[in-house]
Amino acid sequence: MIALTEPSGGSKRARVFFALWPDADVARRLFELGESLCASSDGRQMRRDTLHLTLAFIGDIPRSRVAELITIGDHTRAATLTLYLDHIGRWRHNRIVWAGTNTVPDALADFVARLGSGLAEAGFAMEQRNFAPHVTLLRNARSDLTCIDINPPITWQIAGFALVESDRRQDGAHYKILKAWTE
Ligand code: 2AM
Repeated sequence: MIALTEPSGGSKRARVFFALWPDADVARRLFELGESLCASSDGRQMRRDTLHLTLAFIGDIPRSRVAELITIGDHTRAATLTLYLDHIGRWRHNRIVWAGTNTVPDALADFVARLGSGLAEAGFAMEQRNFAPHVTLLRNARSDLTCIDINPPITWQIAGFALVESDRRQDGAHYKILKAWTE
């Protein structure tokens, strides 16, 4: 464990997900990439402090269940791996521009599967969509951006993960790390 923040009071519900959170250097490179794409694609750039890669999206749950998610995190061994973010893509359906990888390491796929099993066993309803690892850089991007290589790729050393709460505000989402785990 490297961090534990008390869930914010007030709301009885929480919108939560497990994610990989980049270190300052990886976040800076991702942010600079977003900046360089922003002008041409007319999108809304994600703030540097919000950049992340979602592993498992749980969604809106009673806040009382956050403790169960922390237990699942406690029982899921963190993956240690290197991720190479090597290209930029855009999804037409949601107009997101993202950084992704052509090679999903087995260790990452295994880790997501273990996390998913823990969630399913605890009765969290998960969407059955394929894991598509990506870091969202821009939203509402209009231009038809095709795939662009990131050269050299961004090398991301991963040795932990986090449970994160999303607070959607008018100026975009704000995220709070509820707990982070390291290997
Ligand atoms: P996105 O960046 O591709 O929108 C917080 O909202 C995080 O959870 C974001 O990384 C977001 O992905 C992801 N997310 C939101 N809704 C989701 C869903 N229904 N399924 C999977 N991931 C989702």
